[in-house]
Amino acid sequence: MENRNAELIEKILSLKQRRKAVILVHNYQLGEVQDIADFVGDSLGLSQNAAKTDAEVIVFCGVHFMAETASILCPEKTVLFPDMDAGCPMADMVTAERLRQRKKELPGATVVCYVNTSAEVKAESDICCTSANAVKVVESLDAKEILFVPDQYLGHYVSTKTDKKIILWPGFCPPHIRIQPQDITRLRREYPQAKVMVHPECSPEVIALADEVLSTGGMCRFAQQTEANELIVGTEVGIIYRLRKENPGKKFIPLSEQVICPHMKLITPEKMLWSLEEMTPEVKVPEEIRLKAKAAVDKMLEIGRG
Ligand code: 13P
Ligand code: SF4
Repeated sequence: MENRNAELIEKILSLKQRRKAVILVHNYQLGEVQDIADFVGDSLGLSQNAAKTDAEVIVFCGVHFMAETASILCPEKTVLFPDMDAGCPMADMVTAERLRQRKKELPGATVVCYVNTSAEVKAESDICCTSANAVKVVESLDAKEILFVPDQYLGHYVSTKTDKKIILWPGFCPPHIRIQPQDITRLRREYPQAKVMVHPECSPEVIALADEVLSTGGMCRFAQQTEANELIVGTEVGIIYRLRKENPGKKFIPLSEQVICPHMKLITPEKMLWSLEEMTPEVKVPEEIRLKAKAAVDKMLEIGRG
């Protein structure tokens, strides 16, 4: 088995070189996928990397909207996405058609879309944001009324950090809302010295009990910088692999073992190899939509990390 895996990885890495490809991997991906990445990060870090890479091919290991964002930023590159079924259920909770209808009802509102949206929805939005910069993006706007799509919980969290009026959309992340406030109280009793960090896709009740509210990239940075040796982690469990690998002396406790995003687990080294061999499946955003979506993503990238 060991030998088979080593052979598989060697094939991926040599084909990667031949194709002039870069492998971009989200923090929730399987450990074996993270291990062969050129870059592992959060949605913002992945977009920043896609925008600046000089590779000809991007092998994107995450969910569909992330690969689409890479295609929006790099139309001249081939964006390979090893499993087209890896969608994000939250992103599917807003469509361009429903957003257009809502905009008619709210003619004065500025539309901020979470990066967890389709390219069509981004094209209908004024500016994009990720969990790493949502507050900074909203604060940068000269707008009284903001329609925030689709995550009601991230939108609510932002509303607690700004005076601007935020109108929420009823979307949510199915894995993150499984985390309950009782999970924090129980684990704080068990690990009284531990710091609790949660993702802003969690419910307001969970966020209220946390020490830190961070994007997945923010969690990785915080884990390295904090003096705490025990960290309770309120996000998808895939991140625990990276946290343990980068901080062997620290203890990481998942807030709930049930926070699993099955879509994030669809990409495997085998599928990455097939994708590099066949140069398919490819994510490509039609030019008309891409240009409008890019305007929203570029504005966000100018703002950077929050
Ligand atoms: P990050 O941008 O914080 O990595 O979050 C992406 C995501 O899908 C969280 O569920
Ligand atoms: Fe979407 Fe939630 Fe999965 Fe992130 S964890 S990709 S928001 S369903």
